[in-house]
Amino acid sequence: MDREVLNNDIDIRQMTIDDMAAVFHLGEKLFTSDFSPSMYRTWDEYEITTLFNSDSELCLVAELAEEIVGFALGTTVEKQHSAWKYGYLVWIGVRPGLQKGGTGEKLFDELRLRMKEQGVRMIIIDTDADNEAGIRFFKKLGFGHVQEHVYMTLNLSRKRKKKK
Ligand SMILES: CC(C)(COP(=O)(O)OP(=O)(O)OC[C@H]1O[C@@H](n2cnc3c(N)ncnc32)[C@H](O)[C@@H]1OP(=O)(O)O)[C@@H](O)C(=O)NCCC(=O)NCCS
Repeated sequence: MDREVLNNDIDIRQMTIDDMAAVFHLGEKLFTSDFSPSMYRTWDEYEITTLFNSDSELCLVAELAEEIVGFALGTTVEKQHSAWKYGYLVWIGVRPGLQKGGTGEKLFDELRLRMKEQGVRMIIIDTDADNEAGIRFFKKLGFGHVQEHVYMTLNLSRKRKKKK
C-alpha cells in the first residue's frame, strides 16, 4: 500500500482491554525466539497486562479498517538520585505486510507526546544488536548514544570443569 494512503488511514489510539488478544497475537508473529535469542526479552501475555495495568496511557495501538496492525507499549522509570523521569519504550511492532509504511513512526510520535506530557525528559529503548531494521528505525526517529550490553549464560546441566 502507498505510504501516504496508509498513513492517512491509520488511526493511533490508546489500547483497550478488548485489543489485548489482537496485540498478543501480532506480537507472537513478530517477537519469535529468532527475534531475541538472548531470552532476555520474552513476549508473553504478562508483558501486555503488566504494562496495561501500570501505564495504560502509554499502551497504544494502530488500527486500519478496524483491525489492529501495530502497537507500542511503554512505561516510565524514575531512577534513584536522578531528577529526570525516563520513558521506556518496551515493545513496538507493526504487521509484517505493512512495515515501512510510516505506522511505526506514527505510533512513536503519539507515545513521545504522551510521555512528554507526563514529564519524561529522555526515552530509552533496547533491542538485539542484530535487529538492523529496528536499529535503523530508532536512529531515524532520533535515537543515538548506542551503548553495548553483554548477556552471558551458564548451563546448569553441565558439570563444572575443575581448575587445575
Ligand atoms: C521496527 C518497526 C516497529 C518499524 O515500524 P514501521 O512501520 O516499519 O516503520 P516506519 O515505516 O514508520 O519507518 C520509519 C523509518 O524507520 C526506518 N525503517 C523502518 N523499517 C525498516 C527496515 N525494515 N529496514 C530499514 N529501515 C527501516 C526507515 O528509515 C523508515 O523511514 P523511511 O521509510 O522514510 O526511510 C517494524 O519494522 C517492526 O515491527 N519490526 C519488528 C519488531 C521490532 O523490531 N520492534 C523493535 C524492537 S521492540
